[in-house]
Amino acid sequence: MAKLSTAEKIALARKQGAFGGGGGSAPAEEPAPAAETPAPAAAPSGKKLSPLELARQQGASGAKAAPAAASGKKLSPLELARQQGGGAGSASAAAADKPAAAAKADPKPAVSVEGKSVKEMIDAARKPDAESDKPKLPKLPKKALPAARKPVAKKQAVPDESRRGILGGLVLTPFLAAWGLLGAATGAFGLGVARFMMPNVLVEPPTKFKIGTPGDFPPETVITKFKAERGIWVVNTSSYNGEQVIYALASVCTHLGCTPNWLEGEQKYKCPCHGSGFYKSGINFEGPAPRPLERVGLALASDGMLEVDKGRKFQQEMGQWEDGASYVPV
Ligand code: FES
Repeated sequence: MAKLSTAEKIALARKQGAFGGGGGSAPAEEPAPAAETPAPAAAPSGKKLSPLELARQQGASGAKAAPAAASGKKLSPLELARQQGGGAGSASAAAADKPAAAAKADPKPAVSVEGKSVKEMIDAARKPDAESDKPKLPKLPKKALPAARKPVAKKQAVPDESRRGILGGLVLTPFLAAWGLLGAATGAFGLGVARFMMPNVLVEPPTKFKIGTPGDFPPETVITKFKAERGIWVVNTSSYNGEQVIYALASVCTHLGCTPNWLEGEQKYKCPCHGSGFYKSGINFEGPAPRPLERVGLALASDGMLEVDKGRKFQQEMGQWEDGASYVPV
């Protein structure tokens, strides 16, 4: 038996499998009409026929059609080919001898007529011995291996260098961090010194300012329009000692420094924090406030305007309200 390549075996097996699977239908019916023309094609031409072609011709011939018809069983082309390959008991010996001889001459049919199933042939083709058909790679000489390992030995030197770099980085990094921290601390210290050399400057409004003429403040009134910006009430009253005077009261509670409100309906100053109350004149009469409100300096300027001087304070309990600088007679 001639040895077939793997590809040839698989192709042949697929062909055999294609006819073996569908052999029960069309191919089995072909032999009846072909019995009238008993396989003249293969013998006269002298051409080598494949087992498949031989099976078709044999199946088409009436030689095998007779037993098949006699038994009443439909034979596949493969079975017909196997029966023809056996040669014994053939009704058409002359027609079958030549294809049989051709089958013996052709190495391919030897594989197909061994009685193996398609699956067995495929398995045989897939066996490891089929790998022998693959081109074998030439084996490298053993001496080449050390030569191939040399570059690996050179590459091993790279990690050593990297280790040195890592170790150097580990050593240098703390120093760099320390220098960075020292620089940052020095900069912060310099900024602190510079800030210390420039103390805070509190910009306050001038303590002296003019508020208008005495005619702008009617008798027995408390003018509150300067409370928000200047922190004073301007009072024109005679309620303190019977003398009609104008003076300025600081809008600061003498208890804890809150800002009282003037209640026109009640004619008193009332502190919202703890309830201290003061008369129009500034004398305390209720709540925790220990003493009267304080007056600030007031004078009539040369231009006839009333000028307030918050730099000066006058306390009633100290007898300072008698100071002429603390009021302007009307
Ligand atoms: Fe005015 Fe206390 S602060 S009553």
